[in-house]
Amino acid sequence: MNADEQRAALVAALIEKGSLTADWAPSVAAVPRHAFLPETIWVDEADGDHECNRSTEPERWMRLAYSDLPIITQWDDGAEGHARITPTSSASMPTVVVEMLSDLDAEPGHRVLEVGTGTGYNAALLAHRLGAEMVSTVEVDAQVTARARTALRGAGYAPEVVCGDGALGWGVRAPYDRIISTVSLRHIPPAWLNQTRPGGVIVSPVSPLFGGGAVVRLTVDEDGTGASGRFTRSSAFMLLRQQRYEGAPVDDYLPGEWPGDSGQSWTKLDPEAIGDDWLAQFACALALPDVFYRRNGFGEGWTWWLFDTAVTSWATVDSTPGESRFEVRQSGPRRLWDELEAAYHRWESAGRPGYERYGLTVTPAGQTAWLDEPDNPLR
Ligand SMILES: C[S@@+](CC[C@H](N)C(=O)[O-])C[C@H]1O[C@@H](n2cnc3c(N)ncnc32)[C@H](O)[C@@H]1O
Repeated sequence: MNADEQRAALVAALIEKGSLTADWAPSVAAVPRHAFLPETIWVDEADGDHECNRSTEPERWMRLAYSDLPIITQWDDGAEGHARITPTSSASMPTVVVEMLSDLDAEPGHRVLEVGTGTGYNAALLAHRLGAEMVSTVEVDAQVTARARTALRGAGYAPEVVCGDGALGWGVRAPYDRIISTVSLRHIPPAWLNQTRPGGVIVSPVSPLFGGGAVVRLTVDEDGTGASGRFTRSSAFMLLRQQRYEGAPVDDYLPGEWPGDSGQSWTKLDPEAIGDDWLAQFACALALPDVFYRRNGFGEGWTWWLFDTAVTSWATVDSTPGESRFEVRQSGPRRLWDELEAAYHRWESAGRPGYERYGLTVTPAGQTAWLDEPDNPLR
């Protein structure tokens, strides 16, 4: 199959799956995804991230370009030496691209800001449907921006491409009818509220600190000061550069030897049950927005370390396969494992709600997650 035939097959598969709606199908059919990919790409396959070079494997490269897969296009913010530790730019999975465009509910006549230009493919889809003059896109990485500009021009699309921090939005063309982010955030930035017209829509992946992730669809209030809406679907996007979080070193929490001054207790909840479940992690993360974990292997098991961002408290839980109870150590004014266990049990007793039962309300003062209705906040 040539590129056109492969693109038509991808369109058909996305329609068949129920992901691609009639309003966006002509754009996905028209925009050549392969024209936005660099010579060397990486695709996450069952046994790892595999490099594919267009010059040595042209047929595989083209097949991957039209596969329903995310394609990594940059590692480690483009650092020299190719350590390839963290993927930092990509062409998102086509299913995710078109489902988020459907969440966006953009129509001809709408002015749209995209955050996270990446390859430029999504900006091209927006430009194809809405007209290039209605689309601005912001990318933080200078090299990625330059590549996207060239690719967009080469494919015949001319949206405004800005190099900058998308968390600040792009005030020059505000107000927007729609803002779509294709990079994940811990917190929705206040600038986006200011730059979206009242009644306008913001669609963004959200990655709370503890884990999990989902796309939120917010509608801006009539007075333009806040926004609220539900999560629509699971997501696993790369994080906004400025919101990456390393956390303080363990020594800042526990200056001496473990177990320090911690108290001992036991739990029947294996932390791995939370770690193995993206939705459970997300539900707990929304309830505990300032708690994060690290996981260290020991023997056949794992020690889970929990920390708060204020650096006041820590906890450990040892998960050993086959055990029915697990040792807990907690130190500091907060009992972090008890808080996490309670959040997990609340999620279970609410019937393990899915993403779409959760929502977010954002104001200039911060954001609050809720279950079912905004008047039922998680904390
Ligand atoms: C998943 S990729 C975007 C995919 C893209 N929309 C496409 O169609 O190919 C995420 C992009 O967000 C960019 N990014 C990270 N932090 C950013 C920030 N603060 N502002 C703008 N872009 C950012 C990354 O450099 C990366 O290129």
